[in-house]
Amino acid sequence: MKLAISGKGGVGKTTLAALLSRYLVAKGKDVIAVDADPDANLAAALGLADKTITPIADMKELIEERTGSKGGYGTFFKLNPDVSDLPERFSVVDGNLRLLVMGGVPAGGSGCICPESAMLRALATNLLLHRDQYVVLDMEAGIEHLGRATAKAVSAMVVVVEPGMRSIQTALVVKRLAAEIGIENVSAVVNKVRDQAVIPKIEAQLGDVPLVGVIPFSDTMAVADLESRGVFDGSPPQMDLIGGIAKRLLPDLDV
Ligand SMILES: Nc1ncnc2c1ncn2[C@@H]1O[C@H](COP(=O)(O)OP(=O)(O)O)[C@@H](O)[C@H]1O
Ligand SMILES: [Mg+2]
Repeated sequence: MKLAISGKGGVGKTTLAALLSRYLVAKGKDVIAVDADPDANLAAALGLADKTITPIADMKELIEERTGSKGGYGTFFKLNPDVSDLPERFSVVDGNLRLLVMGGVPAGGSGCICPESAMLRALATNLLLHRDQYVVLDMEAGIEHLGRATAKAVSAMVVVVEPGMRSIQTALVVKRLAAEIGIENVSAVVNKVRDQAVIPKIEAQLGDVPLVGVIPFSDTMAVADLESRGVFDGSPPQMDLIGGIAKRLLPDLDV
């Protein structure tokens, strides 16, 4: 089962990715958490801040070797590099959890593809199409790493919003982009909620994007972030909250 998490910057994508990954691991699943946001901080949210991790996009020699390119634009390179060994070789392992950090790709013009982005796309394809583990993708607001072929493997896309119109507008854009590449199952989670009264208003703005979870603002999580500690504590209320979201996202989940 493959979960993709998107939404505006700062809404809590990484927080939710970490909570869902840790929840699934706590339920005995094998999980690959993938940090696909150039501004990577999933490691810390998972409680792995002490690990040194080089993002794949920064592995210049590896990218040259696999794509046959010396890097940069205007050179020839393979669009489908073999990356099948990379998730095992370069992920950080913690019990049944693996973390893979993709890193950022230099911005190109529209439609531009560079060796780094070819690598990351190939990785996304490998993770989504050729793995039987649970995969949780922590993405940025855009969904660039996903194409039509990989999109159909996404079991659910969840867009995180917070009480505020800007993040809801981003969610609606993500929904449209997702639909364009064939992802139908898009739902929303509202995070950092201080007052339940806003929920009906948010639901109204979300239109046909179903709301599958409400996460309260939590001082504990805010402090965990400041101290680079993991956000998952495995407490019964947290297990209930995240378990409820996981089951609504993945109705076939057997936990
Ligand atoms: N439910 C919450 N309660 C309190 N703080 C939160 C909550 N969710 C996220 N945060 C804080 O908001 C900030 C952004 O969260 P993050 O998960 O990194 O967002 P994103 O990945 O979408 O940019 C972090 O400082 C994080 O600790
Ligand atoms: Mg993030």
